[in-house]
Amino acid sequence: MQVGMIGLGRMGAGMTMRLLQGGHQVTVYDRSADAVTALAGHGATGAASLEDLGQKLKAPRIFWLMIPAGAPVDDTIQRLQDTVAPGDIIIDGGNSNYKDSIRRAEDLVTKQIEFLDVGVSGGIWGLKVGFCLMVGGNQAVFKQAEPIFKTLAPPDGYAYAGPTGAGHYSKMVHNGIEYSMLQGYAEGFEILKAAPFGFDLAQLARLWNHGSVIRSWILELAQSAFERDPELAHLRGWVEDSGEGRWTLQEAIDHAVPAPALAMSLFMRFRSRQDDSFSAKVLAALRNEFGGHPVKPE
Ligand SMILES: NC(=O)c1ccc[n+]([C@@H]2O[C@H](COP(=O)([O-])OP(=O)(O)OC[C@H]3O[C@@H](n4cnc5c(N)ncnc54)[C@H](OP(=O)(O)O)[C@@H]3O)[C@@H](O)[C@H]2O)c1
Repeated sequence: MQVGMIGLGRMGAGMTMRLLQGGHQVTVYDRSADAVTALAGHGATGAASLEDLGQKLKAPRIFWLMIPAGAPVDDTIQRLQDTVAPGDIIIDGGNSNYKDSIRRAEDLVTKQIEFLDVGVSGGIWGLKVGFCLMVGGNQAVFKQAEPIFKTLAPPDGYAYAGPTGAGHYSKMVHNGIEYSMLQGYAEGFEILKAAPFGFDLAQLARLWNHGSVIRSWILELAQSAFERDPELAHLRGWVEDSGEGRWTLQEAIDHAVPAPALAMSLFMRFRSRQDDSFSAKVLAALRNEFGGHPVKPE
């Protein structure tokens, strides 16, 4: 099939490579001409602009956006307006908020442009092992683009999740679960590190991946990370969040679903970005005020 890939970062480049390896014709565009040239070297057709991308694809055209959520997606869809024609399909494979996806689909349908929201999981390993895809939108359009999903995903690794928004909603919750899983492993390994047994963390991670109840791909990644740097001395414990955890927690709040593990995991990421915290200062000050408990000077 023909597909136009917009955004050739970590994900877009890997997905382009997997599509090329699967025999698809991929035309690529990125703001960075170097990124386009690099993939052209692997068999993709390079485009110099979004208009050029549109001209190089045959109708009905498929434009796959693999760019940061929010304004970049709105801007890119806006800039595609003069390029797209009725029957074309725009696929947003980034981590967009599902409410934005519903709004975009409603707007595009008035111009007879189809829209699919596709939650993508697999990270930089997806090129090798396949990307897991959760597809939202019109089921007939899903069928139309299915050969692309089939190539990108591992066996049984893609599915029609439901109407517009369902793809990004399911990816959002997937990432919410990921927050709690990462936090759980992180806490366990810190307790092991503090224990008086001199545990070899890589060895324990490897052991647990053989038949234990908590075996997982994330635990395999923990094993590799500890094998490379047992103390993780090369990095700071500073953790970003890209929005999916906040959105999932907001959904839990909106539906009155208790999600304490997610909430704590998200707040631990905020804490990781503080050297000290005002709340801890308030605690120390208040204990000192009422009980004369000692405080440490700044
Ligand atoms: N990394 C992951 O594990 C992962 C997994 C699943 C989903 N995602 C989602 O996939 C999307 C891409 O992630 P990534 O990891 O590939 O990010 P990335 O490596 O940072 O690449 C981002 C790409 O988007 C382009 N871009 C940035 N701002 C733009 C704008 N305002 N207009 C047009 N293009 C813009 C960048 O172009 P330049 O080259 O010009 O900077 C680059 O090609 C994001 O929505 C992300 O949340 C990521």
